Amino acid sequence: MELKHTIEKRMSIRSFTNEAVDESDLKEMVRRAGLAPTLNNSQPWKFIAVTNKSKLKEMAEVVIAKLSDLPLKLDDIGQKKLLTKIEWYSTFFENAPSLIALVMKPHETDLDKSVNLTHDEIIQLRNYPDLQSAGAATQNILLSAVDLGYGACWLSGPMIAKEELQKYLKVESPWHLISFVAIGKPFGYPKRPSKKNIDEIFTLIR
Ligand SMILES: Cc1cc2nc3c(=O)[nH]c(=O)nc-3n(C[C@H](O)[C@H](O)[C@H](O)COP(=O)(O)O)c2cc1C
Repeated sequence: MELKHTIEKRMSIRSFTNEAVDESDLKEMVRRAGLAPTLNNSQPWKFIAVTNKSKLKEMAEVVIAKLSDLPLKLDDIGQKKLLTKIEWYSTFFENAPSLIALVMKPHETDLDKSVNLTHDEIIQLRNYPDLQSAGAATQNILLSAVDLGYGACWLSGPMIAKEELQKYLKVESPWHLISFVAIGKPFGYPKRPSKKNIDEIFTLIR
């Protein structure tokens, strides 16, 4: 599919048919994710695909349990509704035929070796290059999903239960979870969210 068309067709899909995602397609999406740019070409990532329905359900339960443990302001109906909404947007992946989890580990840069700052201070100064790379890889997955005839949605909501999900997925330090992408055949297409006009977001400095 032409790139422009793929970019324009992509939208977050949160509702899927029961049709499985071909394992070869999942692998191809991850192969393309791995072509994304990274600092020093470090590629400090791994991608875990989950297609087992009961495991996806258990992972969603982990997120729900974590959300219900948080000290939330539940003193009015509006806030309860908001929490239900957050819960749904963080757990709808349980009904997706597949999920890809992006896992990364810290990458020691030349700056780490040459200045007297901690790794955390350096990545903060450099505007989190690891997360920037993760975004590039994730976008490759989203676009590849469209290209291969699927729909997908990026999820950071479940990361509220990051520690618990890491345990569940056997992700061990220094690796850590970054985000999920839910993938499947779209069960219809929602109304396309409006996007800002080019004149609102573009500045040209000549
Ligand atoms: C970093 C990031 C995290 C996101 N996390 C979630 C999420 O947890 N749950 C969800 O339903 N959508 C999530 N989304 C999808 C956004 O809600 C979606 O991209 C936005 O509403 C625009 O819609 P579009 O993707 O159809 O253009 C996330 C998107 C990004 C970029």
